[in-house]
Amino acid sequence: MDISYFDNAASTRTDPRVVEAMMPYFTEMYGNASELHQKGLEAHQALEDARSTIADLIKARPDEIVFTSGGTESDNLAVKGIAHRYRKRGKHIIISSIEHSAVYNTALFLKREEGYDVTILPVDPEGFVDPAEVEASIRPDTTLVSIIHGNNEIGTIQPIVEIGAICKARNVIFHTDAVQTFGKVPIDVNSFNVDLLATSSHKIYGPKGVGMLYIRKGVKPTPLLHGGGHEFKLRSGTENVTGIVGFAKAVELCRDGMEEEVPRLRKLRDRLIDGVLETTPTAYLNGPRGDRRLPHNAHFGIKYVEGESMMLRLDAMGFEVSTGSACSSTSLEPSRTLIAIGLKHEDAHGSLRCSLGRWSTQEQVDAFVEALPGIVSQLHAMSPLYADARDKGEI
Ligand SMILES: Cc1ncc(COP(=O)(O)O)c(C=O)c1O
Repeated sequence: MDISYFDNAASTRTDPRVVEAMMPYFTEMYGNASELHQKGLEAHQALEDARSTIADLIKARPDEIVFTSGGTESDNLAVKGIAHRYRKRGKHIIISSIEHSAVYNTALFLKREEGYDVTILPVDPEGFVDPAEVEASIRPDTTLVSIIHGNNEIGTIQPIVEIGAICKARNVIFHTDAVQTFGKVPIDVNSFNVDLLATSSHKIYGPKGVGMLYIRKGVKPTPLLHGGGHEFKLRSGTENVTGIVGFAKAVELCRDGMEEEVPRLRKLRDRLIDGVLETTPTAYLNGPRGDRRLPHNAHFGIKYVEGESMMLRLDAMGFEVSTGSACSSTSLEPSRTLIAIGLKHEDAHGSLRCSLGRWSTQEQVDAFVEALPGIVSQLHAMSPLYADARDKGEI
C-alpha cells in the first residue's frame, strides 16, 4: 500500500541528500570538534560551516547560533535561561495560551517550583495573540515575552513583527518558538526584533535530536547544562557534529527550494482545505486562511466524530494524519490550543491535522479528499450524538 504521509508537522522524512552529507561524519570525520589535531579541526570546520549556513538563513551572526538537541531544549534554554539570568530584575514572564508544551510547561514549572508569575495571554478564534494585549501585560518586573511563531496545531502565524517591536520599545526580552516556521517561511531576526528563536532539524527533513537556539549578541541565558563550556559556554556537551552537518544540509535545501516550495505547499494546502470543507459533512477549518497560516498545515474539526477513530481508519487506508499535536496525541485531555480558540471539549476531540511536506502530491491530496467523507459517514452512523442532532433538526 502506498502511504500518504500527512504528518510532517510531527516529523519529516530525512532527505536522502541530508543522509548523504552526514555519512562521512560517522565513518571518516568522527573527531571531537574541541580537539586540536587533524580530526578535531576537520570536525570543528564542519561545525563552524554549519553555524554560518544556519545563521545566514535568519540574518543572524554565526556566534549567535547555539546548537542543542532540538526544539524542546532550545525552548527550555530560552525560557528558563532568561528567567534565571534576569530574576533579580523581575520574575514575571508572558506567554500565550497556544504555546507548544516545550514553552508552556516550562513556564508552568517556573511558576510552580520557583515562584515566577506567568501571564498567559488569550487568543482570538483564529488563534491570534493581540499585540495590544502583549503591550498591556508588560510590567516593570517583566523579563521575558515568549510567543510561538507558527502554531503546530492550527497553523496560525503570529504578528511577530508587531510583538517584537513592542518588546524592543519596552526593553523586554522576546523569545519565539519558530520550530514550525524555520526553513518554511522567511525569517529575519532583525526585522522580527526577536532576541531568541528556537528551531529543530527534524521538522525540516534533517535528523532528529538536533536543533539550535538563536541568541542575540548581548543576551545571556543561564545555561541548562554545565560542563566543558561548549557552544560559547551556553550549552556544554560534545557537539553532535554529524547531526549538525545534516541540519545545515537540510537548511540549505529548504533555503534553495523555498521560493518554489512555499507557493506549492500553499496551493496543495488550499486544495485540501477546500476539498474537505466541500465534501465532508460537518467539517470546519480551525485557524486562519491565506498567508497567515503555515503553508503546510490544514486543521479540521469534524463534529460528532472521535479524532482517534478517524485517524486509525485513515491509517488503515494509507493516510498518516494526526489528531491533536504530536506530543499530546497519546493524552486524552483535549488540546489546550483548541480550547483556547473557543472549541467545546467534545468538538476539540474530533480534530484532524494534515501537515504536508516535500513529497506530498496533488494525487495524494485528492485521494484523501475522496476517502474522508466515507469514513466520516461510517462514524456518524455509529454516533448517538449525531443521531440526536439529526433528530433535533440541527444538521
Ligand atoms: C512548535 C514546536 N515547538 C517545539 C517542538 C519540540 O521540538 P523537538 O521535537 O525538536 O524537541 C515542536 C515539536 O513538535 C513544535 O512543533
